[in-house]
Amino acid sequence: MLTMLASADDVALRGRHVLTVPDLSPLEIGTVLTLGAHLKSARNTDQLPLLRGKTLGMLFEKPSLRTRVSFEVGMTHLGGHALFASGNEFMVGSRETPEDAARVLSRYVDAILVRTHAHEPLERFSAAATVPVINGLSAAAHPCQALADLLTIRERFATLDGLRLAYVGDARNNVAASLAEAAVMMGISVNFGAPPTHRPSEAFLAHLQELGKPRGATARAFTSAIRAVRDVDIVYTDVWTSMGEEHLAERNAASLLPYRVDAALMSAAAPHAIFMHCLPAHRDDEVSADVIDGPQSAVFDQAENRLHAQKALLVALLTDLKGMPV
Ligand code: CP
Ligand code: NVA
Repeated sequence: MLTMLASADDVALRGRHVLTVPDLSPLEIGTVLTLGAHLKSARNTDQLPLLRGKTLGMLFEKPSLRTRVSFEVGMTHLGGHALFASGNEFMVGSRETPEDAARVLSRYVDAILVRTHAHEPLERFSAAATVPVINGLSAAAHPCQALADLLTIRERFATLDGLRLAYVGDARNNVAASLAEAAVMMGISVNFGAPPTHRPSEAFLAHLQELGKPRGATARAFTSAIRAVRDVDIVYTDVWTSMGEEHLAERNAASLLPYRVDAALMSAAAPHAIFMHCLPAHRDDEVSADVIDGPQSAVFDQAENRLHAQKALLVALLTDLKGMPV
């Protein structure tokens, strides 16, 4: 049974850019999740060529497995096409300005997925683009991961509202930021477990509190990993060192070692708690092998749900959603 959250007339996502999670409203996030769940359940039966003739340009400054492949496969499922450029072909702002690259590409393709190092060139790129631009991960945000994570959480718990999530480790990174924004917007309270060096800023915590207010969700930061995780429904971590920050790897490992998610830490969470990680993972750094490969782990569902959530996002950005179960 599909939840009718909104009519297509209420949700005007067509033509929009998605650089961060709050570029979407909670209603729009709900729409993407509902459509994503529908596309997932219908994938072998009534998959429609909703994006026939459309092309997604995919520009990557950094490596990717999941983001690149899931978007490309998603476009294929929907009857469209994706093209990929990386390395010397695409470095935002090095060969030409982000604005010029965006204006040119907007003449060729119907939407553009961009993975950059810094977030600011992506903002300049999207401001000049005349087709939807989707952030495929920048230093600041990873909104597509957050949408897939919400879809996974909703599958596991049948709801989002009122759940509790702990993010343990580098709580300043892109995945933590987008996950926390998405969570509080949809009613999930967030605890961060991180040392002072990797704790979100007070300004970001205040931003999360504001975002969470309408649904009563809160955001708190703890120095103790155990206190952050106590009784939560979801324990989430990501790599200790993100792409582009490799020079900090040794320092990060020293600071974050007490924040490894292992069986002892998982046992402080609720007995039904799930473990989540965006992948790629480093076993026995940020997570022990027994946890990520154990029964509480949802990591491969998360990876699969990148496909379904992003297909829904593409359909929402490139069509008027008429006739869609949203
Ligand atoms: N989780 C994620 O974005 O993976 P990739 O870096 O492989 O795309
Ligand atoms: N925080 C990680 C996520 C990779 C998907 C990074 O930016 O490298």
